[in-house]
Amino acid sequence: MSKYLITGGRKLRGELEISGAKNAVLPILAASVINGGVSVINGFPNLRDVDIMIKILMSLGCKVEKTYNSIIVNSRNIFTHEIDESLVREMRSSIFLMGPMLARFGKIKISYPGGCEIGHRPIDLHLKGLREMGVEITEAHGFLECSVKKLRGAEIHLDYPSVGATENIMLSAVLAKGKTLIRNPAKEPEIVDLQDYLNGMGAKIRGAGTSIIEIDGVDSLSNVEHRIMPDRIVAGTILSAAAITKSEITITNVIPDHIVSVISKLKEMGCIIIEKENELKIIPPSVLRPVDIIRTLPYPGFPTDMQPQIVSVLCLASGTSIVTETVFENRFKHTEELMRMGAKIKVDGRVAVIKGVRELTGAKVSAKDLRGGAALVLAGLAAEGTTIIENIKHIERGYDNFDLMLKKLGADIKVID
Ligand code: UD1
Repeated sequence: MSKYLITGGRKLRGELEISGAKNAVLPILAASVINGGVSVINGFPNLRDVDIMIKILMSLGCKVEKTYNSIIVNSRNIFTHEIDESLVREMRSSIFLMGPMLARFGKIKISYPGGCEIGHRPIDLHLKGLREMGVEITEAHGFLECSVKKLRGAEIHLDYPSVGATENIMLSAVLAKGKTLIRNPAKEPEIVDLQDYLNGMGAKIRGAGTSIIEIDGVDSLSNVEHRIMPDRIVAGTILSAAAITKSEITITNVIPDHIVSVISKLKEMGCIIIEKENELKIIPPSVLRPVDIIRTLPYPGFPTDMQPQIVSVLCLASGTSIVTETVFENRFKHTEELMRMGAKIKVDGRVAVIKGVRELTGAKVSAKDLRGGAALVLAGLAAEGTTIIENIKHIERGYDNFDLMLKKLGADIKVID
């Protein structure tokens, strides 16, 4: 099993181009089954999860070609509506196929995705929305069997602005009969990217990114070419790497508007951030200030996917900070590992109190989940001595060549067996 070996204490420098967004490309790839034609997806990140989604598409009968620049999916000849159980187990995002398969074929059989490292992750909101559009769902023996003669538009109020539920409902509504309104939808930028992709193939969707999404069902969709939006979480991770190592870095292919909440916290810590259109330069202070409180929230609040990385940075601030995780119930596993590196953190339920220390020290630690693993890498970059991070498969799910990215900026990091 591969591990990262990091020798900490090096300053980083230079410029890095941010890759396409994982959380945009996964629903978009799933959505490529909907048009029964060709979808060309550019600017995608090269990730294990992307390869798993491609495998799922191929198992359904899609032809998929992946080149250096593009993924080309031809979904004309899909021959099954059953999603391979082992692939669903490998990747939760396979549930994004529910909407598109129901829209095109009126049926899907998929195993229940279950919980994961960061929480229980129920899908009740997805199912409630689909039922309101006429889908019959039976749940038995760990499988969900869904079928519908013709999806019908509906007015759906989401009790919580779930990203996945919003996307599945949008996908179902595209070919439904009549108008669908989604009230209290998730407003994440990835929802806007999905809207743009679907509208590119002829869908009629308005309002993604606002508090009401309106979808007029259409009869058919056409071929499409789309460029994936930049990954705001990778951008935030690299800015955090700069802050924790007190290094000046410039990132390109970033949309500053997407990470305003992260930028504002880095500024509170004393970082200077210079914005240009698609570029951000960060100049960290010699001593990072603590922050009173960071609370994770749905967009445009502080992203839960940036919580672990910011906790690592706060470990080296000159005082005590409080971080509250409101989105997922089990997302502080990295704190125990950080404590092995000398961090002083107390976790009580959903609240972490982080007392800044002067120095972290290298240790052998283990990545328990994707963003928590990235947080350990950041700590390793700043720590005195050598850090070994086990279970990097979690990190590789969300970062396209993370080690090479950091190496390019001057970090001493390598993959060992
Ligand atoms: C997406 C992102 C993930 C990010 C999360 C929150 C992808 C592939 N993943 O996940 O990286 O951390 O948004 O920004 O885009 N919930 C329910 N019932 C449901 C659905 C969700 O109770 O039917 C709860 C979840 O358990 C969680 C909260 O709602 O506590 C937010 O989940 P959701 O927004 O759905 O996240 P995902 O779409 O799974």
